[in-house]
Amino acid sequence: MFLFAATTVALSFLGPLVNAQSTNDTALGISAIEAHFTNAQLVPALLASFSPSALFTVTFSGVGAISPGQNLSVEQVAAAPELTIVPANSSVSLAGNYTLVMADADVVGTNESVGQTRHWLVNGVTLKNGTSSNSSSSSTPLNVSTTGGTAITDYAGPAPAEGSGPHRYVILLLPQPSSFSPPSNLSKPNVGVSVFNLDDYISSSHLGQPIAGMYFDVQQGTTNVTIPATSAVVSSTLKPATPASSTASSSASAAKQSGTKNAANRSENSLVAIPASLIILLASYIYL
Ligand SMILES: *[C@@H]1O[C@H](CO)[C@@H](O)[C@H](O)[C@H]1NC(C)=O
Ligand SMILES: *[C@@H]1O[C@H](CO)[C@@H](O)[C@H](O)[C@H]1NC(C)=O
Ligand SMILES: *[C@@H]1O[C@H](CO)[C@@H](O)[C@H](O)[C@H]1NC(C)=O
Ligand SMILES: *[C@@H]1O[C@H](CO)[C@@H](O)[C@H](O)[C@H]1NC(C)=O
Ligand SMILES: *[C@@H]1O[C@H](CO)[C@@H](O)[C@H](O)[C@H]1NC(C)=O
Ligand SMILES: *[C@@H]1O[C@H](CO)[C@@H](O)[C@H](O)[C@H]1NC(C)=O
Ligand SMILES: *[C@@H]1O[C@H](CO)[C@@H](O)[C@H](O)[C@H]1NC(C)=O
Ligand SMILES: *[C@@H]1O[C@H](CO)[C@@H](O)[C@H](O)[C@H]1NC(C)=O
Ligand SMILES: *[C@@H]1O[C@H](CO)[C@@H](O)[C@H](O)[C@H]1NC(C)=O
Ligand SMILES: *[C@@H]1O[C@H](CO)[C@@H](O)[C@H](O)[C@H]1NC(C)=O
Ligand SMILES: *[C@@H]1O[C@H](CO)[C@@H](O)[C@H](O)[C@H]1NC(C)=O
Repeated sequence: MFLFAATTVALSFLGPLVNAQSTNDTALGISAIEAHFTNAQLVPALLASFSPSALFTVTFSGVGAISPGQNLSVEQVAAAPELTIVPANSSVSLAGNYTLVMADADVVGTNESVGQTRHWLVNGVTLKNGTSSNSSSSSTPLNVSTTGGTAITDYAGPAPAEGSGPHRYVILLLPQPSSFSPPSNLSKPNVGVSVFNLDDYISSSHLGQPIAGMYFDVQQGTTNVTIPATSAVVSSTLKPATPASSTASSSASAAKQSGTKNAANRSENSLVAIPASLIILLASYIYL
């Protein structure tokens, strides 16, 4: 019975797991991407912390909605993806202006203080409610619209150097308050791709912390660069952003401390860990 149910859940999750529709799936998806950012060492190397309040769906033409850390080819990411976002719950407000950024965090283990290649930077991005008047429920995706914004750097598809390993391309959506003040060399449209320091940019221009994020990998050629292994995402590190019960929440966060340390290591591109862990977590929802 349990195995049968778990298998059913497993099969339902083998699809694009970030494409969650129900609020609870959204909460799980948010926990998963949070765990993935830590697992891929984007936290704390690129971002000191990452506590998203919404789930990003990043859809490349010909690929579909991507999973966190998905390995993609230069061709697959040549054109800008479509972006939608689902808030964690109905109390998360997604009104106002946002800044959209895509940066190359390079391979695992990179010292991010040297900066990141900026592949996309748009200020004044807004989140669009669906066309139907009742589609603003907390589980309906909002379009991330760059149309009315200021494209400082237009989307430039990744093309990492041959043999330089699997680069992590990070897409973030950051609240842009009225006090937003970009550096003068990044305040006008049509600045070409160049290196900037994401952390400095966020703090000096007074952006808020990212409300949503996603990343994918692009690699060209083979490499003999040794990419340090990262620890696995284990089930105990995942808790829904809106816990179903306080018991589930506290046991999950207690397990997070030891689970992360004891986890078997894995290579950066291994994706098998997440669905398995979500299965276990979902199974616990069914049986608790
Ligand atoms: C809604 O989600 C946000 C962000 O995850 C969280 O901080 C907040 O506690 C949640 N609110 C409710 C009522 O669940
Ligand atoms: C990722 O894709 C590149 C080609 O784009 C390939 O060389 C590499 O082996 C892939 N890595 C993994 C882990 O699948
Ligand atoms: C979507 O519409 C609802 C009401 O229709 C509104 O409360 C909410 O702020 C809107 N969200 C955005 C991001 O515009
Ligand atoms: C969003 O930015 C536009 C200009 O791009 C500005 O007119 C508007 O006041 C901003 N809205 C908020 C809520 O900051
Ligand atoms: C990164 O490099 C800077 C400057 O060289 C150094 O101060 C810092 O300690 C390094 N950070 C890490 C995590 O190695
Ligand atoms: C969101 O984007 C989709 C696909 O581009 C489009 O069909 C839909 O009309 C958009 N919705 C809004 C509210 O802009
Ligand atoms: C929206 O919801 C209201 C009440 O919940 C309902 O009366 C109305 O018919 C709905 N409109 C649409 C377009 O579904
Ligand atoms: C791989 O290592 C060999 C020997 O150290 C070196 O000659 C070669 O240039 C390296 N290749 C790359 C792509 O770094
Ligand atoms: C912008 O100018 C600052 C110096 O004021 C420099 O450190 C930074 O690299 C420049 N950024 C870009 C993207 O050119
Ligand atoms: C989501 O979780 C809440 C408890 O936080 C529960 O009441 C609700 O029924 C769940 N919804 C779905 C669709 O599972
Ligand atoms: C990762 O796991 C492999 C095999 O399971 C092991 O040989 C290797 O030493 C481990 N690496 C680290 C950094 O723990």
